[in-house]
Amino acid sequence: MQTKTLLKCFFFAGIFICLAQCRNSKNTAIAEFSSVHIDSDNELKKIEFGRKLFFDKRLSSDETVSCSSCHLPEMAFTDGLKVSVGVEGRLTERNSPSILNSRDLPTVMFDGHLPTLEQQVIVPIQEHVEMNMNMLDLISKLKAIPEYSKAAKECFNRDFDPWVLTRAISAFERSLISKSSPFDQFYSNNDIDAISNSAKRGWRIFSEDLYCTKCHPAPNFTTYETINNGLYMNYGTDKGRFRIFNDSSDIGKFKIPSLRNITLTAPYMHDGSKALIHDVIDHYRRGGEPHKLKDKRITSFKLSDEQENDLINFFSTLVDTSYMKNYN
Ligand code: HEC
Ligand code: HEC
Repeated sequence: MQTKTLLKCFFFAGIFICLAQCRNSKNTAIAEFSSVHIDSDNELKKIEFGRKLFFDKRLSSDETVSCSSCHLPEMAFTDGLKVSVGVEGRLTERNSPSILNSRDLPTVMFDGHLPTLEQQVIVPIQEHVEMNMNMLDLISKLKAIPEYSKAAKECFNRDFDPWVLTRAISAFERSLISKSSPFDQFYSNNDIDAISNSAKRGWRIFSEDLYCTKCHPAPNFTTYETINNGLYMNYGTDKGRFRIFNDSSDIGKFKIPSLRNITLTAPYMHDGSKALIHDVIDHYRRGGEPHKLKDKRITSFKLSDEQENDLINFFSTLVDTSYMKNYN
């Protein structure tokens, strides 16, 4: 993201916060995240409203790109590309992350700098290489669509505005839950037959022999911290969280991704530079690059082909596509 765009984002985030008239601290936002209910009729209407907006290409300047262009349901809401394609074939700098279970996120984006999903919504909409839309133009355009102005009144009792747009899309995102994988049956429901013996050995390697659960612990398989995992010696133009605060101790720090549905979300890392899960394992096996800010917990190890196979079989037990029933 260019600095200009970033400033624009902060500007609109500012307006947005005023509109929201709440969330004056990060902790308030986090508390709100964990107290979401999706069982009322009105909440279901908000989710449906958000779902329509999420799949609507009219949210982009040339009407070719929707949120779902880069977050496809069948790929755990990622897109299978190294980096994503926005309007007019423009490429993003980063790999599209899964938004399943995003209601659990204490911070949003790889830089871990946005406190709420609501604030995130406006970023891709305005980003030059993504949807390239002016927020004010977009609001007047969407407001004129009878279905949306009616839904705004029904769900939020107000005219269609940025508050409605961001609340509806976030309500949809919070409804995307994927936590009922074979591994969950094994781990949380004590169903010892839910996963194969090879996957059980893989889980033991992951959690006991290696150090993976220091940063990717069950059940969410992330601590949500921003960490330098030694991907590069020189991070080039994308230095991660450094670009938010210009703090040199943040160079190469990216939010630890959840490993849920990992077999559906290749390629891997913030820049999609690792094509296969095998490449990721290789990265850790070598102990990563010796960048001076690389987290000390990452060190080299030995792993036989059979052990690697067990580890990959364990990863495949983290898939739960039950959320797909809403898209068939
Ligand atoms: C052109 C592709 C593209 C489009 C369109 C797009 N995204 Fe994304 N999305 C990305 C990429 C790439 C990232 C990672 C950006 C970063 O972290 O710097 C991302 C990050 C996110 C995240 C953060 C997830 C996390 O774990 O922190 C959420 C939530 C999200 N997008 C939702 C949306 C919504 C909602 C829309 C539509 C308003 C949208 N995206 C449109 C590519 C896209
Ligand atoms: C000190 C923290 C830390 C430890 C320990 C750690 N990781 Fe990671 N992991 C990260 C970070 C940070 C990223 C994201 C880096 C990026 O995007 O550039 C990541 C990314 C990944 C990814 C890619 C996920 C995706 O969606 O792109 C996989 C797979 C992964 N790690 C597996 C492992 C395994 C297996 C181990 C144990 C050998 C491990 N990690 C140990 C911090 C850690």
